[in-house]
Amino acid sequence: MSPAGHRRHRGFSLSPPPAAAVIAVLVLSLQLAAGARVLNHGEADPRRRDIATGTGGGACAMAVVPFGYACEEHEVTTQDGYILALQRIPRGRGVAGAGGRGCGALQPVLLQHGVLVDGMTWLLGSPEESLPYILADRGFDVWIANNRGTRWSRRHVSLDPSTRSYWNWSWDDIVVNDMPAIVDYVCSHTGQKPHYVGHSMGTLVALAAFSEGRMVDRLKSAALLSPVAYLSHITTPIGIVLAKAFAGELISDLFGIAEFNPASPQVSNLVRSFCRKPGVNCYDFLTSFTGKNYCLNNSAADIFLKYEPQPTSTKTLVHLAQTVRDGVLTKYDYVRPDVNVAKYGQADPPAYNMSAIPAWFPLFLSYGGRDSLSDPADVALLLDDLRGHDGDRLTVQYLPQFAHADFVIGVCAKDYVYNDVISFFRRFH
Ligand SMILES: *[C@@H]1O[C@H](CO)[C@@H](O)[C@H](O)[C@H]1NC(C)=O
Ligand SMILES: *[C@@H]1O[C@H](CO)[C@@H](O)[C@H](O)[C@H]1NC(C)=O
Ligand SMILES: *[C@@H]1O[C@H](CO)[C@@H](O)[C@H](O)[C@H]1NC(C)=O
Repeated sequence: MSPAGHRRHRGFSLSPPPAAAVIAVLVLSLQLAAGARVLNHGEADPRRRDIATGTGGGACAMAVVPFGYACEEHEVTTQDGYILALQRIPRGRGVAGAGGRGCGALQPVLLQHGVLVDGMTWLLGSPEESLPYILADRGFDVWIANNRGTRWSRRHVSLDPSTRSYWNWSWDDIVVNDMPAIVDYVCSHTGQKPHYVGHSMGTLVALAAFSEGRMVDRLKSAALLSPVAYLSHITTPIGIVLAKAFAGELISDLFGIAEFNPASPQVSNLVRSFCRKPGVNCYDFLTSFTGKNYCLNNSAADIFLKYEPQPTSTKTLVHLAQTVRDGVLTKYDYVRPDVNVAKYGQADPPAYNMSAIPAWFPLFLSYGGRDSLSDPADVALLLDDLRGHDGDRLTVQYLPQFAHADFVIGVCAKDYVYNDVISFFRRFH
């Protein structure tokens, strides 16, 4: 199927509320909803105080060490100067040893989170339920990435996050700069090619990279949870309205090249007024945005809502909205043909061609029937693009009862997904 075939064929049926209010509701309702609920919980969770107050060291000190795991903070500088935090859980709980490289070294795995969250999103459940700990306890050396602009990755060799220039990037730049820098770092630090696990936008950047032949020679395989390459069947009203808002002109007038910080007073005030409108439910944000999740522990969901969301660039959200609108995955569309020509040498932004992903590269895809962001109809388009993939190098798992957040914070994800991911990785050591 040619990407051009379904470009711009899909209209929006909802009439949008004012763009800014919609943007605000996307994320801020998370915090409003969470604020009310999290306070009710006790102190049983050793991480709770630090997570709630934001004190303490990095993610290691905050989330991992309290559970008795070794954890190291690392940093990687991208070619364009962003300084990114990486957390490493080098071995399982109670396992002595130096980790390190060479003979007997453990197999590294790199975890890449989605948009509007950070690496902490993998660490919100108990060690028995959360992927990084499960991997470490099963003999993997676990590395957790944090996108530029999120809590632990807000530094740059010369730019300050308070400037517009710092936020002048979309997810194309994560594909070209961040992913290679992180993968190279893990490779050279461990002396081995890692396996990759992505969720949501963490799958999008990987698929885009693989389609251009990037990283396939430096990873052993990739597990893509809630894979996103097409977004034209996105079903939640909030997602559709949001996408329309971001793709519109209002958004650039209001925000331009800037940080999109869901916690800013600007966004917060807008959301308060928006949430008072009839028919707007700001109290079940997670469901209204991700689809009805199958096995979220209320406690994990609360921690999630309290800790996340994290900032990203407005340009990244605009870029995602273009994908919803256009029904095809391209590089960022500057809209003005002369600017696209200057940037890409052509009037339309170049498409990422999913059929160009090397057929021999081992891919594990897991998707859910109730996922309203990674809709099954959009995953079907991706699978159609991958129909020429080597049969023994492509494993596809369909979980009819799963929605978007189940793959990361679902208490049953271990049984339904992670065990299969680990078996898949072991085939390609
Ligand atoms: C953003 O980057 C482009 C080049 O990609 C440049 O032309 C533009 O001036 C930059 N804008 C800001 C505000 O830094
Ligand atoms: C939910 O999480 C809490 C805190 O991590 C834990 O005590 C509880 O056992 C979990 N419940 C389930 C059903 O996993
Ligand atoms: C996408 O890649 C495949 C495989 O390399 C190729 O056959 C096809 O022509 C490409 N499609 C486009 C639109 O470039």
